[in-house]
Amino acid sequence: METKDLKKIAVIGMGTMGPGISQVLAHAGFAVSGYDLNQDSYPLARQVIANNLDLLIEAGQAQPEDLEKTLDKITFVDSMEEAVKGAQIVVEVVSEKRPIKKAVYEQIDQLADPEAIIWSNTSTLNIFELMVPARLPRTIIVHWFAPPQVLPLIEVVQGDQTLPEVVEFTMGFLELLKKKPVLIKNYVPGFIINRLLRILGRETYFLLDNGYVTPEDLDMAVKASIAPRMMVLGLAQRYDFTGLDLTYANLHNEDFVDAPFDTEPEFVVSRVKKNHLGIKTGIGVYDYEGRDKAEVIKDRDRYLLKVVNSLQFCLDKKRLL
Ligand SMILES: NC(=O)c1ccc[n+]([C@@H]2O[C@H](COP(=O)([O-])OP(=O)(O)OC[C@H]3O[C@@H](n4cnc5c(N)ncnc54)[C@H](O)[C@@H]3O)[C@@H](O)[C@H]2O)c1
Repeated sequence: METKDLKKIAVIGMGTMGPGISQVLAHAGFAVSGYDLNQDSYPLARQVIANNLDLLIEAGQAQPEDLEKTLDKITFVDSMEEAVKGAQIVVEVVSEKRPIKKAVYEQIDQLADPEAIIWSNTSTLNIFELMVPARLPRTIIVHWFAPPQVLPLIEVVQGDQTLPEVVEFTMGFLELLKKKPVLIKNYVPGFIINRLLRILGRETYFLLDNGYVTPEDLDMAVKASIAPRMMVLGLAQRYDFTGLDLTYANLHNEDFVDAPFDTEPEFVVSRVKKNHLGIKTGIGVYDYEGRDKAEVIKDRDRYLLKVVNSLQFCLDKKRLL
């Protein structure tokens, strides 16, 4: 398939991620058919897309007329059948629960064109085990990052049976959407970034629970050091500057004992017990002092856009160094 053959894209699931993904596709000019089992989610999804576009316009990344044009490209429909009928790509963005994904795949299998490509936004699940076998050659994980209309990375994970042409089309299409697709050649739980975050979380809880540092200072330490350095060197190239000899010696440094894997860290558990869940309850690690959730998210996205835009030169395919 070529992108000129794309007439319609179905997005199944209009919760946290579905609206932003639909927005990116529609903003690029593609007709999107959005469906959610809970159709009460549609007004909010539409509002979220409109707010996101307002921010892009404010940042100079969209024209004022793009607001209506993009919204006009997205139709919220009443049934799965209506959503997937005639769609060349079906984007699955439903809840991260095996039985839900499996049931949705069975429905897609019954209703979608046999040639349709199926993208799953799963964060960790091996959806290749849940997919109807006949659909496996045209199934691929396409994992967007929140907020999907701002962050460039998309982890693309091919299954054992995914056809090379499906991989090639997916990578090319995501590049056309101005995203940064990275291919993972075999399923591994958590792909790249959630695996790294898992290890970072383990050390974060260890440092905080043992009182070595405050959350404010830990955040400052990261922002003032490894965050910008990673933008220039990523993770692998960094070792060329540390020196691989030193890197090897560090692996054998007996003073460096890894933090235990703690599934009940005080840092998390104490807050959950108090219902301090983060911006959804107005307080978590930090206190958002009665501010509206949508307003805090909008500010986060405003800052993220500013950072991502100023660091575009780091995202060139050509190596910086
Ligand atoms: N939230 C994130 O930051 C994030 C980031 C990357 C990937 N993901 C992945 O994206 C997927 C969706 O996550 P989310 O955070 O948007 O979840 P969510 O819970 O916010 O939304 C999921 C939506 O799926 C709908 N749904 C459930 N069963 C359905 C069905 N049978 N048919 C149609 N719709 C149905 C729900 O009504 C809900 O609106 C998950 O696989 C998740 O792992 C989430």
